[in-house]
Amino acid sequence: MSVGGDVNKAKLNAARKAVEFITDAEVIGVGTGSTVEMFIKILSELGSDFRDKVFTASSIDTVLKLSDIGLKVLHPASIERIDVYVDSADEVDRDLNMIKGGGAALTLEKILTYYSSKRIFIVDHTKLVSHLGEKHPVPIDVQPYALRMVYSYLLRQGYNPKIRYSVKGKYGPVISDIGGVIIDVYPPKDFDPQELERELASLPGVIETGLFIGLADYVIVGYEDRVNVLKREVRSM
Ligand code: 5RP
Repeated sequence: MSVGGDVNKAKLNAARKAVEFITDAEVIGVGTGSTVEMFIKILSELGSDFRDKVFTASSIDTVLKLSDIGLKVLHPASIERIDVYVDSADEVDRDLNMIKGGGAALTLEKILTYYSSKRIFIVDHTKLVSHLGEKHPVPIDVQPYALRMVYSYLLRQGYNPKIRYSVKGKYGPVISDIGGVIIDVYPPKDFDPQELERELASLPGVIETGLFIGLADYVIVGYEDRVNVLKREVRSM
């Protein structure tokens, strides 16, 4: 079987396991991306079990996918609490810290994560890293007025910023779901995720960062033939 096939099977296994975490939930937040897409497909196959629940989503893409299968989706602005949030990630380290934002939905993803009682992340095994930044940059969502100033600051800091450009379907930078511009930050190897998060999040003009530190309660890691459920022992916030 091809590597792609293995990874898809691994994603599917993780997504399937996540269903167990939402059965008692009334309000469910859903993230964005190809792994989440598999989770939504599984919900559609399970049919009526989920029709009495309320969903909210981290992106327009997920709103469309959830509503396409007949689920009730509310705007995040109308939601007071979320019982369970299910999303994926680009990288996960040993402490279950993560990089997210490959799909440019990081701001709403972090908001929904933070305000959820239980936070579940579903990843295939290729997302596990020994140090964040091994395979992916750290995305930040930037207020367009501040784009050049934030970019220049990051350049001076040696963070190798790159404005994320649309590859297809649109000229110019990728615009996030909340109207920001995504800058991908490539910090020096072995950076301290907590320190970088503090620095980036404190910059005026930075709406949100894709560093998710201490925010995962469970990470479900999918392999081709099994899943491994990793649990954070102490919830930090
Ligand atoms: C979107 C995200 C996604 O969760 C992340 O990019 C993983 O996506 P995929 O499941 O397609 O690998 O953070 O902003």
